Amino acid sequence: MSRPLVHFTPAHNWMNDPNGLLFHDGRYHLFFQYNPEGIGHANMSWGHASSTDLIDWTEHPVAIPCDENEQIFSGSAVVDEGNTAGFAGPGETALVAIYTSVSAVTGIQSQTLAYSVDDGMTWTKYGTPVLDRGSKDFRDPKVFRYRGPSDDYWVMVAVEAVDRQVVLYRSDDLREWTFLSVYGPAGAVDGIWECPDLFPLAVDGDSGDVRWVLVISMSPGAIAGGSGTQYIVGRFDGVAFTADVPLAAGESDAVDWLDFGRDCYAGVTFNGLPDERRTFIAWMSNWDYAREWPAEGARGAMTVARRLSLTMVDGRPQLTAAPVLPDGVVVESSADGTWLLPDAARIEITGRAGEVELIVRDGPKAVLSWTPEEVVLDRTAFIGIDDSFPSRERMPLPVTVTGSLTLVVDRGSVEVFAAGGSRTLTDLVPWNGPVTLVPREPTTRESIAVQALT
Ligand code: FRU
Repeated sequence: MSRPLVHFTPAHNWMNDPNGLLFHDGRYHLFFQYNPEGIGHANMSWGHASSTDLIDWTEHPVAIPCDENEQIFSGSAVVDEGNTAGFAGPGETALVAIYTSVSAVTGIQSQTLAYSVDDGMTWTKYGTPVLDRGSKDFRDPKVFRYRGPSDDYWVMVAVEAVDRQVVLYRSDDLREWTFLSVYGPAGAVDGIWECPDLFPLAVDGDSGDVRWVLVISMSPGAIAGGSGTQYIVGRFDGVAFTADVPLAAGESDAVDWLDFGRDCYAGVTFNGLPDERRTFIAWMSNWDYAREWPAEGARGAMTVARRLSLTMVDGRPQLTAAPVLPDGVVVESSADGTWLLPDAARIEITGRAGEVELIVRDGPKAVLSWTPEEVVLDRTAFIGIDDSFPSRERMPLPVTVTGSLTLVVDRGSVEVFAAGGSRTLTDLVPWNGPVTLVPREPTTRESIAVQALT
């Protein structure tokens, strides 16, 4: 695949989960699961990129490398404003990464720290675990500053992956952690749980109605097959998370899915932004076939950044996502009413029901169709990557919220935002050449607007 244009991808090698998403001093930092040596999932380290607008990313040297003792698995980063961990010298501010160290000797996964006093450019490993449960499946710590009515402290959410549990801890100094509570198993439990996140959002922007959203990635067994992400809306009192509508383990029909495609996994939100600017990035792949994705020098891309909000949809608060995109330039249709798409495009489509085809020159096509009830994306024609790749994704639509469809098409992918962003569907599609957009009955050219993203 040629390199995507509006999605972050490293210059070389393998990438998976976003890590340590942090806004600091006007700059967004994106760390990521990275193999500095090759195109496969190995030598896990934290790669690093930064951006001032979430669109143009500059890749930096590896931030936290693996060594003979440990693999560096997923985690988060915070700005230690109060120097609670004591890593900053006079006049310095420390950024602290909290990551899962996988012992090369025992395979035990414990949480440990690294810190930077030069705005994230170079990192020093703390060297010893700060939280060890003796477990081989305890990982992906997301740490955030909890500001309670009477007290501020650090909270960590992490998973016991195989137990389908999110475990919560608190700390005053990032070094010593005290157990708070556990959530789960509940809801979708067909796969192991990974990469949790927990954050507050005001419902419809009402600061008098703030709820907490618990995001849990799960692989396999998600809604579209393989890896995917569920979320739960509830309350967090500084100790325990309580779902507004508790689900029993396995009660997956009632689960809220963050995305209905196959390629939106391990997504988390940035630390360091004001609460109302909840910004999310996920890895755009699926463990079912991530290792088989055709790679030209690099393998793995992120979703576009998405601004999240909580909005009332069908009588309950649901996550709504708005893509962060560069400015577009209008692309006119050809005389025959089709579009030869630019390599990166934003497409707006109106109409209660309809169909468009995305046809690769001399190649297969993907078909997007929709009714008032659902959106269906069919990529079954794309064979040859892995037996599990060809698929047809169905995304049920809400009853009370309608709206146009927004498609973000880049080299190798399509993201669909429907019903005001309360439904999203993210799929890799290996376009190996120019793509033509063809409206099919009852969709007409007048109901489509195409922009080139530059
Ligand atoms: C999720 C995940 C995490 C782990 C990382 C390893 O995709 O499996 O649980 O920390 O990837 O690369």
